[in-house]
Formats: sequence, structure tokens, C-alpha cells
Amino acid sequence: MAKSWNQAPKGFLDRGGEEFACPPSTDGTRREFLAGCTAWLTSAAAVATAARSQPAGARASAPRLTRFSPAILADARGEPLRAAQLKVRTNYIFHYPFVATPCLLLDLGRDVGGVGRKRSIVAFSAICSHKLAYPAREVSFIRFQDRASTKSAADHIHCCADHSVYDPARGARVVSGPAPDALAEIVLEHDAGMDTLRAVGVRGVDQFEPFFRKYDFKLAMELGARAKEVAGPSVKVEELTAFCRNIAQC
Ligand code: FES
Repeated sequence: MAKSWNQAPKGFLDRGGEEFACPPSTDGTRREFLAGCTAWLTSAAAVATAARSQPAGARASAPRLTRFSPAILADARGEPLRAAQLKVRTNYIFHYPFVATPCLLLDLGRDVGGVGRKRSIVAFSAICSHKLAYPAREVSFIRFQDRASTKSAADHIHCCADHSVYDPARGARVVSGPAPDALAEIVLEHDAGMDTLRAVGVRGVDQFEPFFRKYDFKLAMELGARAKEVAGPSVKVEELTAFCRNIAQC
């Protein structure tokens, strides 16, 4: 059975090199296992809250790493995507680490400390840290823009909902607008021989818990119980223009 966001198994995550796991069940029951996971999630939420309350500089110096089950990035046919297939400075979307949580995949075309042969490929959670706008099938207010607009410079991720601007070349840190935190980085690994990519975790302040709380009903209508399942072992990558019917411009 697929694992859900609130059923983190032993060894599922680590944070900053420290292993975090659900406490072992002493009687082997599912009830005790889930009770342990609930306590674990409460603890994880406290860590995230503490991180949010720190000054931005302090957060930037010690981004939190959470490992999830690895997922190969795949093309529309389900075949592993070749990094060389990506068009430069183009919005791609995939869903990770949960079936409902969207991420932007970008090849910025220059070395920005990312992965791939030019170290130009990066990925970030596409859930805006301000009020959790995200790319849905019907509309997306958040996207990378390769050209300057009246409200932001070129080559930035801009959330048109309230004009938060993030710099994907610098860890999606906030450049302007009301967003309190950088977009969480999706940690990618590149297989140089195969030229394939896989997602292995999330670094920084993610928005998954508030996202699932805010959109619980909408996600359930769209995806049913699958919404909160862990994505993988492969996840589909597609251009944002193919995934989303209306992309806000600002
Ligand atoms: S939700 Fe993105 S700027 Fe407000």
C-alpha cells in the first residue's frame, strides 16, 4: 500500500544528518504505530515552527533537509527523463514528495550550483510561502518568468497572487513581496552516465502541513485519498503550459 504523508515509516526522514523515525511499536499494532507517528509529526511541526521564527539569515545558514523516498523524473511515456531534453528557462512541473504537492523544475542554462552537466538544473516546491498559491489544473499564479515584467526582473519565480518574487539561481530566496520564506528546494540527484534525474528530498521550510490543511477538501475532490500519498517511484514531468489551463501573467 502506498505510504501517506502522515504515515512516515522508520528511516523515512533525516533532518540535518540526524535520523528521524517513527518510534518503534512495542506491541506491533497499527494504532500504536500511528500514535507514534502523530507524536513524531508534532515534534517535526515544532521544529518547522522554530525554524520559521528565526531571522531569515539564520534560516539561510542551516536549511533543514528532509529525505523522502526517491523518485525518478519521467517523461510523458513514463521513461526516465534525460536532463538534456529540458528546454532552458522553461517551466516544468512534477509532483513530489506527495502526489498532490507540485514542484517547479528549471534548467536555468548556467551554473547556479544545481545538477546536470552544467549544474544548471534546479527544482523547488511550487507552493508559495505567503498564502500557499500553487499550480493547479485550472490556474497557476506562481511560475518562473524568463522576461522582465513591470513588477519583477527576468529569470525569477513570481507569484502573481500578491507579488512575491523568488530567485531560483539563489536557492529561491525571497527577493521581494510578502512571502516569509524561500521556496523549499527539491533535492535532485543526476546520474551522469544515464543523464537522468531523481528527487530524493526537500531542503528548507516546506509548506506541506498548511497546504494539506488549507486545501484538504479541494484535493480530496480532485485526487481522492491519493492526494496525501507519497509520490513515486517515478513521477511525471511536463511543461507547465501542458499541465495548467491558465497561467497568470504579472
Ligand atoms: S500567495 Fe504567493 S504572494 Fe501571496
